[in-house]
Amino acid sequence: MVDYSHKIINCKEYRDIKEVGIAKYILENSLKLKLVIIQLGDDPASNTYINNKLKACERCKIESELIKLDVNTSQEDLLKIIDRLNDSENVTGILVQSPLPPHIDSKVVANAIVYTKDVDGFSIINKGKLYSNEDCLVPCTAQGVIEILKYNNIEIEGKNVVIINRSDLIGKPLTHLFLQNNATVTVCHSYTQNLSEISSQADILVVGVGKAKFITKDFVKKGAIILDVGINFLDDKLCGDVDFFDCIEKCSKITTVPGGVGLLTVTNLLTNVVKAFHLKNIHNNQ
Ligand SMILES: NC(=O)c1ccc[n+]([C@@H]2O[C@H](COP(=O)([O-])OP(=O)(O)OC[C@H]3O[C@@H](n4cnc5c(N)ncnc54)[C@H](OP(=O)(O)O)[C@@H]3O)[C@@H](O)[C@H]2O)c1
Repeated sequence: MVDYSHKIINCKEYRDIKEVGIAKYILENSLKLKLVIIQLGDDPASNTYINNKLKACERCKIESELIKLDVNTSQEDLLKIIDRLNDSENVTGILVQSPLPPHIDSKVVANAIVYTKDVDGFSIINKGKLYSNEDCLVPCTAQGVIEILKYNNIEIEGKNVVIINRSDLIGKPLTHLFLQNNATVTVCHSYTQNLSEISSQADILVVGVGKAKFITKDFVKKGAIILDVGINFLDDKLCGDVDFFDCIEKCSKITTVPGGVGLLTVTNLLTNVVKAFHLKNIHNNQ
């Protein structure tokens, strides 16, 4: 059997190093930080993600609070809670867990959070700042993709990057982060024609389609670097959007699911809480 372990991009090692660094920074600077997560309803996947976030806060000595609301809570009531948290001196970061029920407008909610506490980076101010290359709170998963490439000394500058996703969470912020790093970026989505032709031009291929094993070797250039952002369940098992075993021989490097980019999403939330603390101080001194 061929050993392909040298091709696996190790996200766990980077996650562990980063988390220790955050914990040390908080301790050494005696920072008092608090993250508040608001959840509407009891979606099982959301429960798991929230649990991971709360545990990570505990490991890094960030105080956390989960406000769990009834799924039928009105948008007006939700906005009142956000207002109260915006005004609270003790709260560093606010996150409203998605998915939200259909009667809630996610854009209104994202923009209700004061941008200095918007640790998901979804508000229009943080988006605008990102697109203008200004210091801001960047969506956690997108930030994780860039960081893991850099940690593994994978050159970004001048590379052809194809991102299969155009969401506010992944594709849009990532496009700007890759552009900031001088890559040539193509963004694909469900209306893209000849997807495999485009994706097989990519030196770096980022996939966040949300369809298990969607990407096979026919979508991949020989020697490409593949970052699989997808999280799916197939036969009760967690898997990505990339058919790992089909692509492993053709690519030069690949992330796994589980154990891949997703690990960095939570760590970058902690990074954003620390950053939110500093942004608030800068904002208050202006
Ligand atoms: N690793 C992590 O930490 C993390 C964090 C967040 C999300 N995720 C996962 O990442 C995936 C995407 O999340 P999301 O929130 O961005 O989902 P989303 O908003 O549904 O985005 C999916 C994207 O894939 C595109 N797409 C769907 N089918 C396609 C097809 N046949 N060909 C080409 N493009 C196609 C969609 O195109 P349109 O825009 O045209 O619809 C859209 O841009 C999900 O599996 C999610 O669970 C992982």
